[in-house]
Amino acid sequence: MSTPQTQNAWLATAKGEPSEVLQLDESVPVPKLNCGEVLVKVQATALNPIGYKIMTLFPNFLIKRPYIPEHDLAGIIVDANGTEFQNGDEVFGFIPPQPSLKAHSGTLAQYTRISASHVVRRPINITPTQAAGIPVAALTAYQALFNVAHLKPEQHVFINGGSTSVGAFAIQFAKAIGCNVTVSASGRNEAFVRSLGADGFFDYTTGPLHARLASNPPSSKYHVFFETVGLLDLSLYTHSESYLTPGGTFVSVGAVESKAYEVSYIGKLLWTVFLHPRWLGGTKRTYKMIMVDNKRKDLEIVAQHVRDGKIKPLVDSVFAFENVLKAYERIMTSRATGKVVVRVDPEAE
Ligand SMILES: NC(=O)c1ccc[n+]([C@@H]2O[C@H](COP(=O)([O-])OP(=O)(O)OC[C@H]3O[C@@H](n4cnc5c(N)ncnc54)[C@H](OP(=O)(O)O)[C@@H]3O)[C@@H](O)[C@H]2O)c1
Repeated sequence: MSTPQTQNAWLATAKGEPSEVLQLDESVPVPKLNCGEVLVKVQATALNPIGYKIMTLFPNFLIKRPYIPEHDLAGIIVDANGTEFQNGDEVFGFIPPQPSLKAHSGTLAQYTRISASHVVRRPINITPTQAAGIPVAALTAYQALFNVAHLKPEQHVFINGGSTSVGAFAIQFAKAIGCNVTVSASGRNEAFVRSLGADGFFDYTTGPLHARLASNPPSSKYHVFFETVGLLDLSLYTHSESYLTPGGTFVSVGAVESKAYEVSYIGKLLWTVFLHPRWLGGTKRTYKMIMVDNKRKDLEIVAQHVRDGKIKPLVDSVFAFENVLKAYERIMTSRATGKVVVRVDPEAE
């Protein structure tokens, strides 16, 4: 199968909401490869909050526009370019925000280039549209729990936001090593998080969670508290001495919204979590932030968990390539349960 010179791709043409700035361009050059990169025919991509946050918040000095947005992909290698892969290999992975910003080559396109070290073979027990939603969210969950917070088998973990994509993968990883998992989600998602293995449940809509946890602490305090929503409010951390073990870790995905870039907020965050001395009343618990890292070794581990049936793909909805604006509408409600997927190749399962 020969690769065309040009392709269809969505371009973010200016800073703003997807509905205002995204345009489908039918003559975007298929990218040329650098050493170590492969060309992938994209079967499906999945949206992540960082995609629309970059589009709406990042000024032009941080990202050169127009660019092709998004990061996750499942696809077929059409130019292995002398790497370990063969043409025809079915893979999944993600383009980290940094290189894709510089090179303007995201995954909302029929073809994309990606470092060979950023993809692995797709497990055959899941389809491309299921696989596309795994890399960013599942790696974030895996790395937060195990690389950052060092969660151990049979420990107790609290996941704030068990129905976020990151949280729902985190429940599954923690259950896979026999942990006791308590989560917060809204009542309508209780059945969903319990189906993934959650043992304990709090409905976050019925009152401030930090106050409920502090006034009625668990008999066995949590070893890890994973905040997966991206809350600006730091109350869950500042009250955590009541429900997190002294050696435990509070790990957060970090807030990415316009207020999070204000100097006053950054100052408050730095003071609260890093600078306020414990002997002067600072919170006596460790705070860490996860920044997902495209480590091939971790992606292989995630893929093996999928092959073993320990991690299930989570798909909220699948949109056709032409309906990308509807897909953004869905993810931007912050109400999706699982991944919002875009089927780039109409024939992809
Ligand atoms: N640092 C990193 O490397 C990294 C990587 C990936 C993602 N992230 C961040 O992680 C966050 C989650 O991303 P995602 O893709 O997993 O999100 P998502 O799947 O789009 O999250 C949607 C879910 O969030 C739930 N939710 C909304 N507000 C909530 C609240 N206050 N408490 C509990 N649940 C709430 C909703 O449930 P209800 O409808 O029931 O409320 C819905 O099920 C985002 O802020 C994203 O930017 C960071």
